[in-house]
Amino acid sequence: MADKDRVERLLASMTLEEKLGQLNMIDAGAPPMGEPEMERQVAAGRIGSLLNIHGAERLNRLQKMAVDNRLKIPLIFGLDVLHGHRTIFPLPIAETCAFDPGLWERTARAAVEETSRAAVTLTFAPMLDVCRDPRWGRIAEGPGEDTLVTSRYAEAKVRGFQGTDLRDGVAATAKHMGAYGAVAAGRDYGSADISERQLAEVYLPPFEAAVKAGVAAVMPSFNDVAGIPATAHGEILNDLLRTRWGFDGIVVSDYTAVVELIAHGVAGDIAEASALALKSGVDIDMQDEAYVRGLPDALKRGLVTMGDIDRAVRRMLTLKERLGLLDDTYRRTSAPPLPANHYDALARDAARRSAVLLKNEKSVLPLKPGTRRIAVIGPLGDDPLQMFGCWFAAAGMDSATIVRGLRAALPQTEILHEIGAHIEEPGETGIAAAVAAARSADVVILCVGEKKEMTGEAQGRGRLELPGSQRALAEAVLAVGKPTVAILCAGRPLTVPWLFERADAALAAWFLGSEAGHGIADVLTGAWSPSGKLSVTWPHDVGQIPIFYSHRATGRPAVPDVYYCNRHTDLPIEPQFHFGHGLSYTRFAVTKLNATPAEISGDQSVTIEAEVANEGGVAGEETLFLFLRDPVASVARPVLELKDFAKAVLKPGERKTVRFTLARNDLAFLGRDLKPRVEPGEFQIFVGANADRSKLTATAIRYR
Ligand code: NOJ
Repeated sequence: MADKDRVERLLASMTLEEKLGQLNMIDAGAPPMGEPEMERQVAAGRIGSLLNIHGAERLNRLQKMAVDNRLKIPLIFGLDVLHGHRTIFPLPIAETCAFDPGLWERTARAAVEETSRAAVTLTFAPMLDVCRDPRWGRIAEGPGEDTLVTSRYAEAKVRGFQGTDLRDGVAATAKHMGAYGAVAAGRDYGSADISERQLAEVYLPPFEAAVKAGVAAVMPSFNDVAGIPATAHGEILNDLLRTRWGFDGIVVSDYTAVVELIAHGVAGDIAEASALALKSGVDIDMQDEAYVRGLPDALKRGLVTMGDIDRAVRRMLTLKERLGLLDDTYRRTSAPPLPANHYDALARDAARRSAVLLKNEKSVLPLKPGTRRIAVIGPLGDDPLQMFGCWFAAAGMDSATIVRGLRAALPQTEILHEIGAHIEEPGETGIAAAVAAARSADVVILCVGEKKEMTGEAQGRGRLELPGSQRALAEAVLAVGKPTVAILCAGRPLTVPWLFERADAALAAWFLGSEAGHGIADVLTGAWSPSGKLSVTWPHDVGQIPIFYSHRATGRPAVPDVYYCNRHTDLPIEPQFHFGHGLSYTRFAVTKLNATPAEISGDQSVTIEAEVANEGGVAGEETLFLFLRDPVASVARPVLELKDFAKAVLKPGERKTVRFTLARNDLAFLGRDLKPRVEPGEFQIFVGANADRSKLTATAIRYR
């Protein structure tokens, strides 16, 4: 509980300039006013928080300037800690493929241990943008296509970052609210012209989950939602977030988003832009000093009141109080340092759990013991900086590459390496050497994909093929005819059907972080039986986008060879890989699906049980998905909706019963009035290893 009196006392003693200072967040790496002036403003209480900065020494120096001021209000230091700080864990799109909330929480907690020692008290994470369009570069930073998975991810990350008491954690930011993942054509910062139903059903629930988990901050997105920029969306930021959900933290604008309201065309000048944002619920203005420059004028013009400003300042001071900054400003940085390799084992475990085995034919994997020579070919085989993907605040320059991982795991095997081609520059001069290496090897590991710089913010791509001359390289190497494993390092699914056809095995390795190569080596050698599953549907072709499992039914569903149906005439109906797809080195079978009771009413719940057996020869982990379909409702429901997922860890020959509970709430949907309702009738229940409906086991229950 925050000390309200203390906050009120502080507020009462502040001038307008000092109040606006608290709402002013500046990028310490690129201060618009230059560094000396930034420091002067920190000392004068004209800046309340800084971003893009870490490191105890520099930050404590700045902090001292702030607290030497007459008000003694410390700064908040914010940083994007999307997937680790010094130790980098898999990119969010990858880590969600582990389907493991415990892991998601542990990696966030580890990041806090590193970040808070570096004096950071606010992270701009977790990113909770459901995304069904891999053209959007920021799909890499988020949890994939599903609302339930994103909500579970939200809860786990908020728990991990904030802990049970903010004084021992880092304030988390649920971002970007909302529907940022739906920007048209995957072009960053574009419009998300979507229905209120989609907003409420698909894009906003993860933010509600974050609020219920106690998230301290929310960041609105850059885009407009059906004409209203999120930074000016009072219906979302005030009515929904604060009034209906009861959020009591701070809303931080995205970088220069307040001034951008002018470019959006909803404000005529900076006074209007800052008034609109403040009135719409944005408390903190990031980087462009819009509040400092615009609010005094807005006050004079009657566009805002002192009460509006006080409300935002109160929230900022309350957060500082909750973080313990007002009591013991330097406590976090006085914790004993952690050894550099403290989280290596966790990072390796996260890496191997996040890799997804997409294809494995002719038993090419796991690699046979005693393999004499392996050729690792491709620009992503031995480039340490590339393994991080986007956002790697304090990671330094080094990571375990695939070559390094294999050399450590297989000391008796000769590991050759040829780059073969560059990702961006054209040119095929390296291909001959790569082909020669492939010829001389027993197995080829082809490491291709995107550069880390091609993922994340502003990295929309209209084509999702292998960039540069990587295709020429891959085809030349495949033509050698050696057993070939393709490893795709990328921040999104890549549309390479020809590669999936011709390589014997394919692994989606995304960008797996500091220990990427060791995690991948664990999978390739069989030290770990792969267990990752796709958190996003993988298309064959860009033309299929958006393609996702939870689509609505149509009057003319897609059926092969039917003329008048919901299909493209020149593309397959099915995706390349379904949501949830991911192979292991063993075989799992799901049987004995049972729902009891089969009929419920009122608030009764149903227990769903299924038996999963390991019918193969090695131990493994299987993730089971529980899907629901409401076949007849007053609003057409998706063909499948994920309601839960669970893991079974099984030795060879072992079988276990996996249990789920479906509560009345799980049967609810938003009616025509967008209010939740449950309608009586049949509900179909599906359990299985992925969203391929033809392979799911089914039963049904009735709600009376
Ligand atoms: C812009 C990005 O959209 C946002 O996600 C990030 O937190 C801020 N920059 C600060 O780095």
